[in-house]
Amino acid sequence: MTLTPTREDKFSFGLWTVNYNGTDPFGGPTRNHLEIEHVVEKLAEVGAYGLTFHDDDLFPFGSSDSERDAYIGRLKKALADTGLIVPMVTTNTFSAPVFKDGGVTSNDRAVRRYTIRKILRQLELGVELGAKTFVMWGGREGAEYDGAKNIRAALERYKEAVDFLGDYVLSQGWDIKFAIEPKPNEPRGDILLPTLGHAIAFIDSLEHPELVGLNPEVGHETMAGLNFTSGVAQALYHGKLFHIDLNGQRSIKYDQDLAFGHGDLHNAFALVDLLENGGVNGGQAYTGPRHFDYKPSRTEDETGVWDSAKANIQTYLLLKERAAAFRADPEVQEALEAAKVFELEKNTLNDGETIDSLKADRTAWEDFDTEAYLGGKGFGFVRIQQLATEHLLGARG
Ligand code: GCO
Ligand code: MN
Ligand code: MN
Repeated sequence: MTLTPTREDKFSFGLWTVNYNGTDPFGGPTRNHLEIEHVVEKLAEVGAYGLTFHDDDLFPFGSSDSERDAYIGRLKKALADTGLIVPMVTTNTFSAPVFKDGGVTSNDRAVRRYTIRKILRQLELGVELGAKTFVMWGGREGAEYDGAKNIRAALERYKEAVDFLGDYVLSQGWDIKFAIEPKPNEPRGDILLPTLGHAIAFIDSLEHPELVGLNPEVGHETMAGLNFTSGVAQALYHGKLFHIDLNGQRSIKYDQDLAFGHGDLHNAFALVDLLENGGVNGGQAYTGPRHFDYKPSRTEDETGVWDSAKANIQTYLLLKERAAAFRADPEVQEALEAAKVFELEKNTLNDGETIDSLKADRTAWEDFDTEAYLGGKGFGFVRIQQLATEHLLGARG
């Protein structure tokens, strides 16, 4: 069965994803570099609407201005030829040796100043290309040794950089926002802002918190042993889901960047259900790009690269279809009702409730039968999970 993606699905891919050449800490490339025109054409063919990129994905680190311009010109032409857009850009502040102790939080002040310049160039390019989101993934912002990094000072420098960039965006009146991408470790032993929760607290400390949100990645929260969908739900709760990196990860281990759904499929189902049906009156809770940040495994040849790109899209669309059937199933609705899932949306206190009125309510204490919860009043949550499983397996509706 093949589902057909449309532009409205907003599927996007990082240039670094399909162009991953297979290098890992134990071996070199297993695939050749693909030219930008070819990547854009193939992405359009598999049904993507957008391409995202780090500066260094498009023009190699250290390119002269004229080399950089030539690459940008080639990209613009490829975009014009295919209708693809650039919804997001990001800066590589982790690959070059200069970033070995990080960029905006390097102990070396000259590196920090250089990093801000590099980010500014990419921000300006992003705005020129119409990007609405600027992702900040601080992969090298961290440490291996506790005595080597003053974490409070590093967070202060992080804030200094983000505040400075925010001021610039506001002064220019640009329509672009920042999205911080947490990750617990790799490449650093410990990375600053390791989880969505850390990043949310950090954003609260900024001068322009409204300009800064999150770019959660499936694999990264999973590496920390956390429930991705639940983290995304909290990001939505705080109005901070600015972008999303979809991929797959099997448990707490190195960053696998598998195709979407090729990790915890139940959680991927719950995620798509949340994004597509978790909004007001069951509408979309998230309307931004469905961005795939995965790595085609180094075992694959170029055919495998495009097959895996399609796999991301197919899995998303299949899960969307299954989630819609799950929501529409009367038995599911009945199970949710029985499990009091909807009751959680009701305020705990009555309108205008006071301490006195609560104390006067005998049903809340004196007459409340706590004994009934021993052996009775089961919630039936397992039934919901089994119904989800059956929908996921295509066994219902
Ligand atoms: C990872 C990260 C990166 C970032 C990307 C954007 O796999 O560790 O997801 O891929 O998303 O580099 O800066
Ligand atoms: Mn990512
Ligand atoms: Mn990753």
